[in-house]
Amino acid sequence: MNNIIEKLKSSRLAKSIIRHGNPDNDLDRSLLMNNNFFLHLHPVKINKHGLKFNYTFGLGGISFFLFLILVITGGLLMFYYIPSTEKAYKSVLDIVYTVPYGRIIRNMHRWAAQGMVVAVLLHMCRVFFTGSFKEPREFNWVIGVFLFVLTLGLSFTGYLLPWDQLAFWAITVGSDMAKGVPIIGEEVRFLLLGGNIVDQNALIRFYTLHVFILPALAVILMFVHFWRVRKDGGISSPKNTYINSSVNTEKESQKKTYTLMTAPKNLKITYGTDKEPDELVMTYPNLLIMEIIAGVIVFLLLLLMSVYFNAPLEELANPLKTPNPAKSPWYFIALQEIVSHTTAFWGGFFIPAAAIIILMAVPYIKPDHNGVGVWFARERKKELIVFASALGLAILLTIIGQYFRGPGWSFVLPF
Ligand code: HEM
Repeated sequence: MNNIIEKLKSSRLAKSIIRHGNPDNDLDRSLLMNNNFFLHLHPVKINKHGLKFNYTFGLGGISFFLFLILVITGGLLMFYYIPSTEKAYKSVLDIVYTVPYGRIIRNMHRWAAQGMVVAVLLHMCRVFFTGSFKEPREFNWVIGVFLFVLTLGLSFTGYLLPWDQLAFWAITVGSDMAKGVPIIGEEVRFLLLGGNIVDQNALIRFYTLHVFILPALAVILMFVHFWRVRKDGGISSPKNTYINSSVNTEKESQKKTYTLMTAPKNLKITYGTDKEPDELVMTYPNLLIMEIIAGVIVFLLLLLMSVYFNAPLEELANPLKTPNPAKSPWYFIALQEIVSHTTAFWGGFFIPAAAIIILMAVPYIKPDHNGVGVWFARERKKELIVFASALGLAILLTIIGQYFRGPGWSFVLPF
């Protein structure tokens, strides 16, 4: 058997595909990463600190892995799903009850979508709580905020597709919040739905956004995001991971930022901060093996969940039968809760718009290197308290909206 494997490995066909030898030395380990289209997303070497599981919890990678699962399961669902108000619900019933493994594929798609919203949110929190948004990673944080909005958009547009009562009313309530945009609120809602009510036009718009426009944008932004992680010096660290070049100039404005991996040779350089540079280790096997293990665990958990728990599917959408209360998807329910106490302007426009703008501005408000790469660093106490309080409030409102609201949005106990 070993003999056959060796022969296959040394065949011309194998050599034309895989150009490196056994990755048991640093040269072949580098070639493995560099010569593979997919693996060369990673650099050959990475900062040692970024490898620590309890630093990143692999959350960015898990978000990406869930996205890949969503693309694959979504593609399979598209073989059967029909985006028409007449046929959508029936096609989903077919997927669940007659298509082989259809139920599991649908469940995986639905649970992975929820999982991705949670993973991206947690990833954003980890980046914030470790101060990793600071120079030179400010712009990657901004790209991250766009990715967060896109993730919510992907989930929201998918919500309508089963065309059941849950979908129809969640989108009716969710899109009603768009009316809160001053002056052009009605027009924004009209643009989103392709009309005044949720019907065929809305379904085809949401479908197109869900299967093509938003995923395409997300893919582009994700690759820019990964590319910048590399260009900004890899994962942040309490040690230094990037270099400022002060070649031929003392002027701050003419200094350029390089990373430990990309700095041209023979430059007169000063380190990005006065900290020691971080140690570099080989990506294979250190990071790659961890990624494979994390991927297998996430996949198995998702599969297990999809076997035992079915994604919700209520009765066929009925515009004449309003559930009481009609709730938006859970990630917008904090906003719905705010609207119930104020007006659509605050919950549907001002607060979400202000939150996005403030999030994007965060790295530029107070540029410093305080506590970068350290969880909950004392030097960043004030900003940590503000972020944690806003997050805590959003979670509290979500729990109230989700579990403690009954008919007429009255306060009820869930048990
Ligand atoms: C689809 C969503 C996203 C994906 C797939 C993704 C993926 C990743 C990956 C793989 C990394 C490197 C490893 C890690 O930190 O786990 C990373 C780092 C980073 N991400 Fe994201 N991300 C997403 C959304 C976000 C969001 C919402 C933010 C913030 C608003 C963000 C900001 C950053 C920053 C600043 C880094 C560099 C962190 C450091 O150097 O420590 N990302 N992202």
